[in-house]
Amino acid sequence: MRSIEWVVEIPPARLGPRIVSPEWHASGSRIRIGRVLRLEELKAGLPVGKLGLELHFYPSLGSTNDRAAELARAGAPEGTLVVADEQTAGRGRSGRRWHSPAGSGLALSLVLRPTTLGSREIAAIGLIGAMGSIEALAEYGMQPELKWPNDVLLNGAKVGGILAEASWTGSELDHVILGIGLNVSAAPFPEVEFPATSVEQSLGRPVPREALLLRVLAATDRWYARLIDGTAHPEWETRLAYRGKRVAISNGKGERVGVVLGLTPQAGIRMAVEGDEQVVFESGAYRLRPL
Ligand code: BTN
Repeated sequence: MRSIEWVVEIPPARLGPRIVSPEWHASGSRIRIGRVLRLEELKAGLPVGKLGLELHFYPSLGSTNDRAAELARAGAPEGTLVVADEQTAGRGRSGRRWHSPAGSGLALSLVLRPTTLGSREIAAIGLIGAMGSIEALAEYGMQPELKWPNDVLLNGAKVGGILAEASWTGSELDHVILGIGLNVSAAPFPEVEFPATSVEQSLGRPVPREALLLRVLAATDRWYARLIDGTAHPEWETRLAYRGKRVAISNGKGERVGVVLGLTPQAGIRMAVEGDEQVVFESGAYRLRPL
């Protein structure tokens, strides 16, 4: 099987996308779950605000985050979008694997260059992707929630995850890659520690992935603007899962138990730990487990 790599530039004036350099690359034969993403529909909806001025679309790719980082290092502008129909080496947080079979979900990465943000706000970029996904899913009548730091839940099961990776030159931020993965149609691969679901499993009807992707971009663009103008907090608390409930929080070194209170402006979580001491855990390598 051969597949095409489209590199598409969307001019800001919406004059229509221009294919810059189609290249060919080989891809092994794999099982396809649904139809391939319709590139024409994506192109017709782009750009969305600041996002998707340039689109790099791949029927099959290792990881969209890895490709977006390569493009960012080569000077790709803010808002560059990488989309893959299938990922063969998709990555999750803490070195975990993210499964993206062909035709089954959304796997996308954005190049962001938030030069006006301080380092603590940059840590909140993952949350922006989660809130963008949550807001887009809510537009279908579902009630998604945020499992801090940046997982997306539907009916208490994980439907999506975010991998935000910042790159610095000394103390100066070069770029952040915001990777978003959503299970749309496939029976998802459950994480060892947490149940998983898909959008269509939860909603009970098919959801065209192109329209969902464009909605995720539009909502992520709005949340990115809120982060930059300082208005993301406290609104992002409204979707927080386990508020007022007991959870265990761990970072691989140890575990503490407490009640979830809310979020901080820098996307940390506030918890009443072991009694009533209020502790803030900064966004990082933490994981929550409902009790
Ligand atoms: C997690 O839940 O641990 C985060 C999963 C992030 C998956 C997305 S899919 C698009 C982008 N490319 C990757 O390799 N990972 C992210």
